[in-house]
Amino acid sequence: MIIETIISTVNSKGKVNFAPFGIKKNNNFIYISPYIPSRTLENLNLNKCAVINYTDDVRYFVDCLVGEKKFKKLKSFNIDGFYLQDCLSHEEVRVVSIKNDKIRPTFKCEIVGEYNHKKFLGFNRAKASILEACILASRLKILDEKKIRNELDYLNISVKKTGSYKELRSWKKLNKFIEDYFENKERK
Ligand SMILES: Cc1cc2nc3c(=O)[nH]c(=O)nc-3n(C[C@H](O)[C@H](O)[C@H](O)COP(=O)(O)O)c2cc1C
Repeated sequence: MIIETIISTVNSKGKVNFAPFGIKKNNNFIYISPYIPSRTLENLNLNKCAVINYTDDVRYFVDCLVGEKKFKKLKSFNIDGFYLQDCLSHEEVRVVSIKNDKIRPTFKCEIVGEYNHKKFLGFNRAKASILEACILASRLKILDEKKIRNELDYLNISVKKTGSYKELRSWKKLNKFIEDYFENKERK
């Protein structure tokens, strides 16, 4: 199973980077597979540690995609890093081995600390749809425009029906990001 998370890592200047990543879990190990290139990949190679943030607030996924990544954070406990202040829970991990690959290496990480902060309040279809649309938005360069538009139309139904103002605002932001991409592409 793949779990969608926000991973925080730190660069050579101590600056934290948040980015959405789907991780796999097996007992006390977490597997992160970043495509080359990415900041998360660079930071994992550099520091050999990361924080896995679990959140059901899809605004964090959308904001990462549109480049608004200045989230409130707190210092982690077992590694040199930070966790998302608002997350439901987080895990602190250390890289134990790297499976090299020219396209997408895999970092096997050991969980060295796990912390629960808030209660999960249940599933919401608008959130699930926005998460799905985030995946589309992260693949704009490789997916067909018509397929993206068709899927957004379908996801729009549950967002409008079941989202709160927070989801509606994020939905608008994400759709604008996608529209801007297609407009710029046409102009080129
Ligand atoms: C829900 C979700 C899951 C993602 N999972 C992955 C992943 O497993 N591997 C990957 O390389 N990119 C994944 N991405 C895309 C990265 O988030 C994206 O490439 C991002 O720009 C990387 O940021 P960074 O350069 O700051 O590390 C995912 C995106 C979303 C929205």
